[in-house]
Amino acid sequence: MAKMWAGRFSKEVDETVNAFNSSISFDGRMYQQDIRGSIAHATMLGTCGIIPKADAEKIINGLKEILADLDSGALLMDPTAEDIHMFIEAELTKRIGDAGKRLHTARSRNDQVALDVRLILRDEITEIRKLLHALLNTLVSLAEQHTETIMPGYTHLQRAQPVTLAHHILAYVWMLLRDDGRLSDTAKRMNYCPLGAGALAGTTYPIDRKQTASLLDFTAPVPNSLDAVSDRDFCIELANALSLLMVHLSRFSEEIILWCSWEFKFIELDDAYATGSSIMPQKKNPDVTELIRGKTGRVIGDLTTLLSMLKGLPLAYNKDMQEDKEAIFDAIDQAKLCLKTFDPMLATMRVNKDRMRAAAAQGFINATDCADYLVKKGLPFRDAYKITGTLVAQCISEGLTLETLPLESYKAACEQFSDDVYEAIALETCLNGRISEGGPSAAAVREQLAAAKAQIAELGA
Ligand code: ARG
Repeated sequence: MAKMWAGRFSKEVDETVNAFNSSISFDGRMYQQDIRGSIAHATMLGTCGIIPKADAEKIINGLKEILADLDSGALLMDPTAEDIHMFIEAELTKRIGDAGKRLHTARSRNDQVALDVRLILRDEITEIRKLLHALLNTLVSLAEQHTETIMPGYTHLQRAQPVTLAHHILAYVWMLLRDDGRLSDTAKRMNYCPLGAGALAGTTYPIDRKQTASLLDFTAPVPNSLDAVSDRDFCIELANALSLLMVHLSRFSEEIILWCSWEFKFIELDDAYATGSSIMPQKKNPDVTELIRGKTGRVIGDLTTLLSMLKGLPLAYNKDMQEDKEAIFDAIDQAKLCLKTFDPMLATMRVNKDRMRAAAAQGFINATDCADYLVKKGLPFRDAYKITGTLVAQCISEGLTLETLPLESYKAACEQFSDDVYEAIALETCLNGRISEGGPSAAAVREQLAAAKAQIAELGA
């Protein structure tokens, strides 16, 4: 494709440099946003009398036709074009002649690309949030089904204290709600319009930046022309929000991987969401979750790419910034893929309540409650803790649990024990006694569920 800036040059650009320089293979994805931005710009140029109204109309109609042809596939992008902005402008001039050449008045590709990226990220955030809201709804309905499903809570991956599956799932609901909040904040903060910043120093034309900002549904124009074309903090904020979201999905995935191992057998994935081995006939592998865990590293890598790309750049535009798109688009695409697969995988998994309960019934998960029993009988917690520790050691050496340890052994360790200890250390007692706000008892979880549901409803999910 002939270069628009060819006038300044006496030679064609080297073919390798041309391919190296070109971004259309990845910024072509922004064609709808580019055209939308150009329509707003042309409208403003027309109403401000910077170009004739008739030309503005021709431009707008021409752009709409190009949009329709790109949408339908009637027009294909030229892979040798420098970028999507040049391609569309050249196509417009090819179609409508001189009027097309007036479109770029009072504009630079620097404010144009800063606009297009904001527009597409805004659209993508809306889509990602929809997927996230669907996942939140799936998690809440799973939690509702499992307020009585007792399982071990872990620290150091050692059985620690009893919780329920509902409580465990709700922990992720709150994390994902914060992720949603970060995405929404990011969208709000990036919602300022860079159009009219020109290459870096505004323009001498009597443009109306407020008009383009409002035509494109922005809160207001970016207040400083240098800032408008120089920063990519909005890409970084989004990559950061997506990295955290992925980290949350990855931790959950790691647990799913453990839970469907034969060692745990807490859950079984539906056949549609698991894969087999090419050699070992017995295998049913949780590939989806492993890929989510793996892709999390990739999204964190995208964030690192963006941070490192920006950190040494002097104001204003530098070509390094063209590298923003592949990184942020990749982070978006990977996060969307993960959300789309994780949700139905969770919705269809089978929960093995008996295995969860059995795991909670072993491993001295009630040892804290045994100590608390003595505290209620008047002992200081540290003494109660020590006595219970010796009982646990005794159980381990005799192959018993606190539930099966005879009363004489309890009494030998401390006079305060009587036969109500068995009731005090029963799993249900241990669980339902944890009534503190945010705790795992059925009553506390029901309150938590109601609060989570109210927050999700507010999102319009
Ligand atoms: N393709 C370029 C990018 O993505 C568009 C902006 C080019 N501006 C320039 N001054 N060369 O960053």
